Amino acid sequence: MGGGLNPSPEPPRKKVSVNSFRRMKNEGRRIVMVTSYDYPAAAIADEVGVDSILVGDSYGMVVLGYDTTIPVTIDELLPICRAVKRGAPHSLLIADMPFLSFQVSKEDAILNAGRFIKEGGMEAIKLEGGKEISHIIRAISDIGIPVLGHIGVTPQTATLHGGYTVQGRTSSAGEELVEDARAVVKAGVFGIVLEMITEEVAKAITEAVSVPTIGIGSGRYCDGQVLVLHDILGLYAKFTPKFAKKYADLSQSILRALQDYSNDVRSGTFPEEQNVFKMDEGQRAKLRSVRKN
Ligand code: KIV
Repeated sequence: MGGGLNPSPEPPRKKVSVNSFRRMKNEGRRIVMVTSYDYPAAAIADEVGVDSILVGDSYGMVVLGYDTTIPVTIDELLPICRAVKRGAPHSLLIADMPFLSFQVSKEDAILNAGRFIKEGGMEAIKLEGGKEISHIIRAISDIGIPVLGHIGVTPQTATLHGGYTVQGRTSSAGEELVEDARAVVKAGVFGIVLEMITEEVAKAITEAVSVPTIGIGSGRYCDGQVLVLHDILGLYAKFTPKFAKKYADLSQSILRALQDYSNDVRSGTFPEEQNVFKMDEGQRAKLRSVRKN
């Protein structure tokens, strides 16, 4: 009778798949996506239970220090994908296809997308662009590689046109964005990132399409949200976009830690007794006698 009742064990956590995304939209459950560029951050994000990790080409800016995402290459991203894969067994893993890795031809796009799956261990890829790249989306998804779309501000080309400008401020611009969304859905995407689109238009797109929308700077009515990890953590000192929320200030924490470390080394307070390795007494005595002779 009674006695130590075992609390029922946690059910094993399910792997998030592309199908889970559509289910979540239908059930009205918001999707959480975050970028990640290394093993430890991916492991923490996965442990927290985010639904999806994006190996974004924002890596070029927030980790490599480039001014834009344009210089990022597939070869730079592949080892990052593998590290993230090792850390995150449950989240849906998506890689960004960098500038010029998918626009040149369908053949190129398929081979390059395939590298993220075969060599990077990713489960889906993301492509920036609207109706103008629907033939590429169609070609990649037709061979079975899930594609996440990305419309609105598309950073790979935005910088070439003079910077990031909020999209969908007029009704005609809004209609074009809805058309873009419909075109990429028709071409086969399983979801669409909406970047820096007015809240009204993002809402209209979310209601118009069957796949989930993942907003970044596109307001409250998207089916999910994505942010760059370094913006969440306050780790990208150059600037924080208006739409991002800084949940920590790691730049300041790192700064203080490194200042303390430098001061300790300079003042001789580090290393301390607990940080050093010692000989046993016998060996110490031998060393003393060697030094005397
Ligand atoms: O590269 C990136 O991180 C992105 C998103 C934030 C959507 O494309």
